[in-house]
Amino acid sequence: MDLLDQLRKAFTLYLEENRFTQYPPELYEPNNYFLNIGGKRLRPIMVLLGTDLFGGDISEALPAAMSIEYFHNFSLVHDDVMDNAPIRRGHTTIHEKYGLNTAILSGDALLVYAYDFLEKVPEQHLRTILRIFNRTAIEVCEGQQMDMNFEKRVAVSEEEYLDMIRRKTSVVLAAALQIGAIIGGAEQSDADALYQYALHLGLAFQIQDDILDCYGDQQLVGKQPGGDILQNKKTLLLIRAMEAAELHQDIRLSAILSGANVLSPEQKVTAVLEIYADLGIRTSVTETRDALIEKALSHLYSTTLPDNKKRILESLVHQLVLRTF
Ligand code: IPE
Ligand code: IPE
Ligand code: MG
Ligand code: MG
Ligand code: MG
Repeated sequence: MDLLDQLRKAFTLYLEENRFTQYPPELYEPNNYFLNIGGKRLRPIMVLLGTDLFGGDISEALPAAMSIEYFHNFSLVHDDVMDNAPIRRGHTTIHEKYGLNTAILSGDALLVYAYDFLEKVPEQHLRTILRIFNRTAIEVCEGQQMDMNFEKRVAVSEEEYLDMIRRKTSVVLAAALQIGAIIGGAEQSDADALYQYALHLGLAFQIQDDILDCYGDQQLVGKQPGGDILQNKKTLLLIRAMEAAELHQDIRLSAILSGANVLSPEQKVTAVLEIYADLGIRTSVTETRDALIEKALSHLYSTTLPDNKKRILESLVHQLVLRTF
């Protein structure tokens, strides 16, 4: 078993040992449900890896890993409400299964418990880690608001898109690795370089998420296919397609987005995917994704980590970005 699998196993065990058993079950059971229907556990693995890379004891990092995974799941419970998502991880979303009020309140409780675990980080790092966590959490809210604002806007630039995904997605991955590195005793310069590495990888991660929303195997991805298209999400695919359509004076896309054509949800997804295919959007977006991976690696190579540790972070690229679900 390689290191990343070992770390996933250690975290899974810790998660199982800490299932919610509190009262009332109507508040906690939905969270047990959500945490147990799947999830790649990428963020907690990054916390533990950050600690391990610098020779730290991963048992000291488990509460921080849990905190980050709780925060991530809290953000997903509310994200599914905001995105009208019926399924996640191949199962019914909380708001669909238990109702909107439960999604709000159980999600809130998960956020509070994220702080409960954060409080358990080694005393000497608590203040620093709390500051990183809070800044990250508020950036996620900002990114999520921008994501919703963009649904209503016709034109969004690639620069605005990158700023939005940096906030809603990248910063959590970057903070996960940075917090782990701090617990492991990394020098500030290494912790900062790893933050930049994970931040760029996080941008590539969200672009891959956008790609999978259109082209992923639904059985593996476990989300509604074409969900972003149905919500008029300004993904990099859509932004680029709008640019290319303008260049080619192709009016099909704007007709669909303006609602001029009355289409069923399935017809809308099919029609947009057809336009993407005609305009070569998948290839173009994949190139941008890969350029961001290269940028991430250049930050990795600037750290003082020995080569064998750098290899581990290179292999993380496969789990984070070159994934099929
Ligand atoms: C999904 O994250 C949300 C995004 C930031 C794109 P993951 O793909 O890591 O979700 P799980 O936890 O593995 O289900
Ligand atoms: C989610 O982005 C980002 C956060 C939850 C903060 P998406 O809305 O693209 O994530 P999925 O596709 O629902 O997992
Ligand atoms: Mg969303
Ligand atoms: Mg979503
Ligand atoms: Mg998505």
